[in-house]
This record gives sequence, structure tokens and C-alpha cells, in this order.
Amino acid sequence: MKGVILHAGHGTRLRPLTHTGPKQLLPIANKPMSNYCVDTLIQAGIKEIAFIIGGIGSQKVKEFYGNGDKFGVKFSYIEQDYPKGIAHAISLCKNFIDGEKFIVFLGDNIINKNISEYIINFEKSNVEASLLLCEVDNPSQFGIAEIKNNKIIKIVEKPKNPITNFAVTGIYCLTSHIFEIIDKLKPSWRNELEIADALQMLIENNEELTFEMITDFWKDTGTPKDIIEANKKILENMKESKNGQIEDGVIISGKVIIGHGTKIKTGVKITGPVIIGENCIIEENSEIKENSSIGNDCKIIGTTISNSIIMSNCVFEGKFEIKNSIVGSNSRISQNNVSNNEFLLGEGSQISI
Ligand code: DAU
Repeated sequence: MKGVILHAGHGTRLRPLTHTGPKQLLPIANKPMSNYCVDTLIQAGIKEIAFIIGGIGSQKVKEFYGNGDKFGVKFSYIEQDYPKGIAHAISLCKNFIDGEKFIVFLGDNIINKNISEYIINFEKSNVEASLLLCEVDNPSQFGIAEIKNNKIIKIVEKPKNPITNFAVTGIYCLTSHIFEIIDKLKPSWRNELEIADALQMLIENNEELTFEMITDFWKDTGTPKDIIEANKKILENMKESKNGQIEDGVIISGKVIIGHGTKIKTGVKITGPVIIGENCIIEENSEIKENSSIGNDCKIIGTTISNSIIMSNCVFEGKFEIKNSIVGSNSRISQNNVSNNEFLLGEGSQISI
């Protein structure tokens, strides 16, 4: 079976982080979020994957993933000129899929589940679609499935008054029949070709559609809060590894991952789960607290970081705390001795002091 990863879209809810690149390349535990989709597909035996790319930073996606050699599989790229909907993006893969069954993975969805069995079950079956559903607390933000006698009887995109809390996750096993269905779709109220409408059309045609439940972790990383939560979950499940140079007198507790070339100086306190990338310098009196990811080449001088994602090449200097935050690459925050705060913030920046 072939795989498709949706890597286009505007990422508006994540601005300013998405002014310079696609949201699916934002790091979670120091790895681009779509890399987790790639890993999940490869783990399930998928050998050929097409990325739907478009808009800002398409080139960055190609540069990061290349032709797939680094991952031991084959990657290709399909351009979507404008984000006209998930179903539209899928329709662009018709030639790539070439009549086979396939799996679509939204590049901003992260799961903590081996999907080999789900894929094998679909390959063996005669159904036109197999979905992964997950119970959520905020059903009006997702495609929602209504179930009767263990069958999906209706799918509605972001209903105002949801009848169930079974979200349709962004992982869909499909047959090539979906291309005929998408051809018949009309744009929704938000002017997109909706995957939920395509699935609903399958149901109305009495075509077979099945589902499995995700009972452990699934996250649609649409907002900064979602990304911070996904970061926490991924860190909790990572294996400890301490490289770099850790001086005497560093206090470490919990699970910690430290990259090559990083120096942790005497008097630093680290409470895991934490990941610190390569070639960082963490100076005396700094504190890195739970659920923090620090990218490569960062320098932290006396600052406390907790529950945050700090991207590469950032410098923080001074005795202040950064918590529940996402800080883009090459940012600098320092405390000066005078009481006025000076900022140089890009469009859409958010600070609270
Ligand atoms: O995450 C699950 C949800 O994903 C489902 O429950 C919904 O039924 C489904 O519509 C979708 O909802 P979102 O509002 O989260 O979709 P979003 O617009 O964020 O797009 C999801 C991914 O697909 C994201 O990685 C961007 C990419 N995309 C999106 C569109 C609209 C494209 O590549 N092209 C597009 O045209």
C-alpha cells in the first residue's frame, strides 16, 4: 500500500511560527512533527510516500525529506496550488496511487500507536474506507462520526451540536474509489472540498466503511497549546541518553536526553523529561524543568525554562522564567539592568509579562 502525507495548508492558528515555514515542520521533542507521521507509516511497512506540499516553505519540506534515501523508502512531492481542502489534496494523488489501496495521514496528526494491524485489516477487507476514531472532549472542532450497531451511520465536519464525541482522526485508509467520490463533491461553507463530505457520500451510497478506535494518544496539533501537549507526551515516551559534557555539580533528575557537543555547566538543574539538542551551552544557575525541548546550538545563561519548546540557535540571558511557550529559531531574550523592556517582535508575536 502507498502512503500520502498532507503537508500543505496555511497554518494560520500557529502564526507567527508559520510565517517562515509549514506548521508540519515545527519541532516536537526536537523533530519535525510530520517526521512522526513518516515514522508511523514506515513502521507499518509503507515503502512509497507522496507529500502534498504547497505555499510557504514547500522547498523546506523537500530539503528535509529528500528522495527518501535517508529513511530507506521512496518519497515524492505533489504541489497543491492553494489549500482547497483535504479532499482536494487527496484528489491530486490519483496518478501516484494508480488504482491501489492507500493510506492518508494528515501531517499535523500525531499518534502513539503501531498501525500495522489496522493497515493489514484494511488490505484484507472489501471496504472502501477504514477510519481511526478517538474520543475527544471538544467534538465541535473535528469531523464527528455517529455510530449505530457498531457501524458509522453519519459523519459531520465540526458540528455545532455534536451527537457523539467520536472524532475522525486524520488517518484514513482508502481505495481508489474515493477519487470518483471527490469528483462529485461541492465546496463546503468554508469553500473547501471536505473529506468528511466524501466519507458521508460513501455512507449515503451504502458503500462499506469501517473503523477502529484509538484508545491511547492522538493529537491534532492545530494550536500552540496542542503542540506543547504533544511535546510533553513524546518526551514522556523517549529513551534517556546523555551525551555531551556534563560537569560535576549538575543536578539531574527524571529522564533526560542530551545531544553531542552540548556543555552543561556546574550549578545547572535539569528535571526531566527534557531534551537538549546538540552543541548547546547551559550556563551556571540555569534550570531546565519538565517537558522542555531545547533545539541545537542554544545558549542559556541563568534562565529557567519549563514546559516549553525552544527552537535552534536561541540565546536567553538573565534570571527570568520561560514557561508554556514556543520560541522560534534564532530568538534572543535578555534581561537588561534598566527597568524598561525592549522588544523586536515579528508580525503576530504574542508575549505576556
Ligand atoms: O485532525 C483531524 C481533523 O482534521 C478531522 O477531524 C477533520 O474532519 C478534518 O477536516 C481535519 O480538520 P482540520 O480543521 O484540523 O484540518 P486542517 O485544515 O488543519 O488540515 C489538516 C492537515 O491537512 C494540515 O496538516 C494541513 C493539511 N492540508 C489542509 C488543507 C485544507 C493540506 O495539505 N491541504 C489543504 O487543502
